[in-house]
Amino acid sequence: MPAVVVLGAQWGDEGKGKATDQLGDRTDYVVKFNGGNNAGHTVVIEGEKYALHLLPSGILSPGVVPVIGNGVVIDLEVLFSEVDALEARGVDTSRLLVSSAAHVIAPYHRTLDKVTERFLGKRRIGTTGRGIGPAYADKINRVGVRIQDLFDENILRQKVEGALDQKNHLLLKVYNRRAITVDETVEDLLRFAERLRPHVADTPLVLNAALDERRTVVFEAGQATMLDVDHGTYPFVTSSSATAGGACTGSGVGPTRIDRVVGVAKAYTTRVGEGPYPTELSDADGEWLRQTGGEFGTTTGRPRRTGWYDAVVARYASRINGLTDLVVTKLDVLTGRDRIPVAVAYDVDGRRVDEMPDDQSDFHHATPVYELLDGWTEDISGARDFDDLPKAAQRYLLELEAMSGTRISSVGVGPGREATVIRHELL
Ligand code: GDP
Ligand code: IMO
Ligand code: MG
Repeated sequence: MPAVVVLGAQWGDEGKGKATDQLGDRTDYVVKFNGGNNAGHTVVIEGEKYALHLLPSGILSPGVVPVIGNGVVIDLEVLFSEVDALEARGVDTSRLLVSSAAHVIAPYHRTLDKVTERFLGKRRIGTTGRGIGPAYADKINRVGVRIQDLFDENILRQKVEGALDQKNHLLLKVYNRRAITVDETVEDLLRFAERLRPHVADTPLVLNAALDERRTVVFEAGQATMLDVDHGTYPFVTSSSATAGGACTGSGVGPTRIDRVVGVAKAYTTRVGEGPYPTELSDADGEWLRQTGGEFGTTTGRPRRTGWYDAVVARYASRINGLTDLVVTKLDVLTGRDRIPVAVAYDVDGRRVDEMPDDQSDFHHATPVYELLDGWTEDISGARDFDDLPKAAQRYLLELEAMSGTRISSVGVGPGREATVIRHELL
């Protein structure tokens, strides 16, 4: 099984980092294919906690080649501060490869991200403020700066001039901010060019050659299905393709080469930022989930919104991504509940709706139709086999599996690398 995509089946923070890290010792390459340092993946190895933003989680396994694909937007300062922090903890980052076609997040992207959010006021997206949206907007507008542009100052200068042309009018006249000069931007971007140079590669060529040699490649998504720019809750989404198709466009590997698509879903749900969220709990249960699950953002520290599992979202993610496997995480967090509600359908203005509404307004009006499943009280953190789980936890998973339409291959019972129940090996 050489090519496996790992992606988020909900609104992000499902535990993709842990899922990818677990495959590390059987993996040759781990590729980040979308997003940038809006992502935050926490991986816990022997009690040591690592927070990764721009680097794929595979970097923590010795022998894995971590790859930042063409679909990623890169903040160079963040990249190297993450590299330095890992090196200081003894993690070898020397094998890192960065696509020459990936786009760069420039200082003006961060500025624009923040001012546009402020300008949107009540209609804001609740972005991470990292410049992600503006960098992708430039890419689509064909005024982006790519990694390869950093190695020819004349070209870089021309590209930055082109990018700043309209932006300075906008910053000065609409947002009442100071203009940004070409010189300061070029200087800022060139700070890291020489350090980056040995890592830059034709990553689509490298990855396809690796697959030709039957090497194992894991594609690790940032964000999630419901935050995908095409398939998520637009406009409350990120600006990249976080679904399975994004693994292909964001890495230069064709769909015929992908063997498995693994969706990661919490045993409940969370969301950071604005936007519709039918199973959201604004009561004591929601606070209980946040505290028990430690639901505070890895990237921004924001408290995450919390709610019960949504099987409509899970079915949608199964369909949009062609999931072959589901990894259910944080089952341990639900321990101690008497009954656990799970959304099986929605009520939209008095109508029962079984699948994700195609119309955005319907989704905004959707209220969950819950089924109550039995809870369990036993500590499950030591479970490693399905049979180690209490009967009620087993039934909870089997119900989720039936409702979600994809087999559950593993189950997280704690943050540590080892705290996992394996039903079917992913590699
Ligand atoms: P990602 O963005 O999808 O990689 O997820 P995050 O790292 O942002 O958020 C997931 C959080 O849950 C992290 O703090 C993980 O350490 C933690 N985690 C992952 N799996 C489990 C699990 O099965 N049980 C518990 N209790 N925590 C988990
Ligand atoms: P990981 O990879 C959860 C959310 C933001 C905001 C929206 C747009 O850790 O799962 P952006 O800065 O991307 O323009 O913000 O997307 N968001 C995430 N939420 N997990 C993430 O990444 C996220 N990355 C972006 O909160 O609502
Ligand atoms: Mg995260």
